[in-house]
Amino acid sequence: MLGMYPTFYVPGIGTAWVMGIIGVIHVVASHTSVGASFLFALLETRAYRENKPQLMEFIKRYGMFLLVFSYIIGSITGPGIWYAITVASPRGVSGLIHNFVWVWASEWVYFTVEVIGVYALVYLIGKIDARTHLKLTWSFALASWATMLLIVGVLSFMMWPGHDSWYQTGSTSEAFYNVNFFAQLGTRTGGMIVMAALVGLLVASRVSDPALRRSVVRMIAPVGLVGGAVAVVMFFYYLRTLPHNALVMLDTHLLPVYAKGMVAVFAVATLWLVFAWAFPQHVYTSLAISLFLFIAVVGVWPEERMRESMRKPYVAGQYIYGNQVIARDVPGKGIHSEVERIAEHGLLQLHPFVPDRLRTVTDANELEVGRLLTKVACANCHSLEPGGPLRNLPGKLHMATDEDMIAAFLRGPLKYGTQPYMPRIDLPDDEIRAIAHYLAAVDSGKNVDRLIAQQQAAEQRAVAAANDGKSGSTSAPALVAEQEQQAAGQATPSRN
Ligand code: HEC
Repeated sequence: MLGMYPTFYVPGIGTAWVMGIIGVIHVVASHTSVGASFLFALLETRAYRENKPQLMEFIKRYGMFLLVFSYIIGSITGPGIWYAITVASPRGVSGLIHNFVWVWASEWVYFTVEVIGVYALVYLIGKIDARTHLKLTWSFALASWATMLLIVGVLSFMMWPGHDSWYQTGSTSEAFYNVNFFAQLGTRTGGMIVMAALVGLLVASRVSDPALRRSVVRMIAPVGLVGGAVAVVMFFYYLRTLPHNALVMLDTHLLPVYAKGMVAVFAVATLWLVFAWAFPQHVYTSLAISLFLFIAVVGVWPEERMRESMRKPYVAGQYIYGNQVIARDVPGKGIHSEVERIAEHGLLQLHPFVPDRLRTVTDANELEVGRLLTKVACANCHSLEPGGPLRNLPGKLHMATDEDMIAAFLRGPLKYGTQPYMPRIDLPDDEIRAIAHYLAAVDSGKNVDRLIAQQQAAEQRAVAAANDGKSGSTSAPALVAEQEQQAAGQATPSRN
């Protein structure tokens, strides 16, 4: 048996989208708050040096805004990511924990400091002496950034360790300081400053004193522009640190779709910051909100989506496939590839959560086995329903209803792993046929779930009849008939 977990599938959108939606909200909230911590530190340093206590008024306002939005949303979506990834990619998460358990533990320590810090910062303004408060604000900024730095080590390892020796040693520091690390840290640091500047303009738009608003905006806007420049330069560096499969995915699937949006986000953010600097009195709340939303949605969603998609076929470290199968040996961690074992024995025999009655393919259960195998082998990366947003399989198969054609794809490219963005999925022939049978049925528009429910009911009926013959009980068939009707749904005419 393999160390696999049950497959969790959200019909329609696929589990990856659930993760994506939570993740994007989290990134917007968390990056804004980390970036804001630096803006606070810079603003407060200025307030202290130039003796401008009115700037503290703005910091208090912005800090309160963060407390209500970023920290609440961030702290809800952070654990939300944990729940979502644990069910979507249990082995991916397990792999990360086995590499980074102490890194994560340290991250939580800094996060605690950060949360206490933001409360202390807002509520102690004017209550403690200015110098101590300034130290507090800088500590808050460094603790916030430390949470990002530690998480980036984990996120960038997900793309790949980059140096081959990690597979031999399994060392945490080699995993953490992977080739991607500094590039991603730089891109996110630049990006978070831009986000914080944009939210800062939003908060500044509510400041009624024109002199205060002007001095705040004139300070925030250039910092935002520098952040944007850092993000762009580091992003180009980041592109140079990617593995081959990611570059293929970028060239063929991602850049053609997202490049224009990325340029638009950069242009709009730059123009907006320059405009704000030039005309601080025209920084209106409605404008600030719309531009922030535009940049958060059009900027962050593609960025996260790209990072996730580029990593395919792997979910972590280029050794765990998206479908949870171990792709290669990692001697440093005592991990062995499972691809060949699956090719030899099949998923039905090796997956611990396959019900016994489905371990062998028969005419009666082929559709159900096909659905199960497709969920296990493909659904981490593909929606199963036509039109689903996550590279839906019917669409990818051009609605093919020919079982042999679908099977040929599984016996060719998937078996030999020729598509750089898809795992090598080498299955025994009966499993390939079951998958093809299921996918062809979905493509031909059949209500597959209902058909399977009917087949299950028929099977139970047969078992019940056999038992009935033995025991002489009369209640079992009636029970099964009732179950079958429930399973088949209201619309089906009753069996006679
Ligand atoms: C680890 C992720 C992953 C898994 C698992 C996966 N695929 Fe894919 N698949 C992809 C990606 C990525 C693409 C290409 C991206 C796109 O078209 O948006 C793709 C594309 C495809 C295509 C289009 C042809 C092509 O080569 O671009 C088909 C057909 C397909 N997959 C079928 C399957 C089937 C069937 C399974 C399960 C047996 C499966 N995939 C499992 C990631 C995956």
